[in-house]
Amino acid sequence: MRSHLESLPALPTRDQDSHKGSYGTVLLIGGSRGMAGSIALSGIAALRTGCGLAFLACPESSQGIIASFEPSYLTIGLPEDEDGRISYEANSRIREQMNSAHAIAIGPGLGSSRDTELLLLDLYATTEQPLVIDADGLNALSRLPDGLPKPNGPRILTPHPGEMGRLTKTDAKTVQQNREEIAAEFAEKQQCIVVLKGHQTVVTDGQTVFVNMTGNSGLATGGTGDVLTGVITSLIAQGLSPFDATRVGVYLHGSAAEIIAEKIGEDGLIASDLPLAVAEAIHRYR
Ligand code: APR
Ligand code: MG
Repeated sequence: MRSHLESLPALPTRDQDSHKGSYGTVLLIGGSRGMAGSIALSGIAALRTGCGLAFLACPESSQGIIASFEPSYLTIGLPEDEDGRISYEANSRIREQMNSAHAIAIGPGLGSSRDTELLLLDLYATTEQPLVIDADGLNALSRLPDGLPKPNGPRILTPHPGEMGRLTKTDAKTVQQNREEIAAEFAEKQQCIVVLKGHQTVVTDGQTVFVNMTGNSGLATGGTGDVLTGVITSLIAQGLSPFDATRVGVYLHGSAAEIIAEKIGEDGLIASDLPLAVAEAIHRYR
């Protein structure tokens, strides 16, 4: 029997006597050639959500452009293939960087190759820290011939209906007909948290279901999901439990869209507007 949650948790407090080490470090992995902006959006969103440090790991040829989007995060250039995607040789460098991360995300602008599949398989199965998987990270998981491995730590999957369809070997239309049930069944079976995105995003760990009521059609534009990835990862790094961070993160992301819509309407909202509005949503939420 599944239960529905209505109330949301409090955000972590901020002491005046604190420093950047007090608010956690995120590591965000993605940003292949032509998709550098994806991981940059996640990075800016993570910082605007309040984490202390954000490291962005990307193929080395994307590093300069990603660094130039925002001076406040740190970038790490990784070995890449001829198409500018992270190659499997990056694994040891990623592992080294993981040691200092409280929460990790992989997927925005990651691109798709055999190496990214191997990377996902490895990280999913072995990483102890909470790992948020989005976009091409989900597509890589969907292609694993033996399905998802057993996770060695909390896993948060953030599919839109198309990605959920690929994960469950159905399609977006089937997913949309039964959103809560399909998300909860998958979460229970795979021992993970599922964020099934779209109007009234569903967040579930298999036992409990939260249906989010914030947000608007302004979010139906490229890159807003990348922002959500950064928000959730940042809240986990700050100490919220993965499930609480995920449902409050989804709520704040939707609230940010409502704050923007009060000022400029829904039509012209773009993803890069969202991070600062997430900061305002947090300010109002406290
Ligand atoms: N109402 C409320 N929220 C919405 C609406 C809506 N009508 N439309 C979209 N959203 C929200 C979703 O809930 C989600 O949080 O906007 C976000 C969209 O996320 P994605 O679908 O992941 O979009 P995007 O950021 O462009 O994805 C970038 O990743 O998923 C892949 O195929 C995608 O390659 C693309 C990349
Ligand atoms: Mg997406």
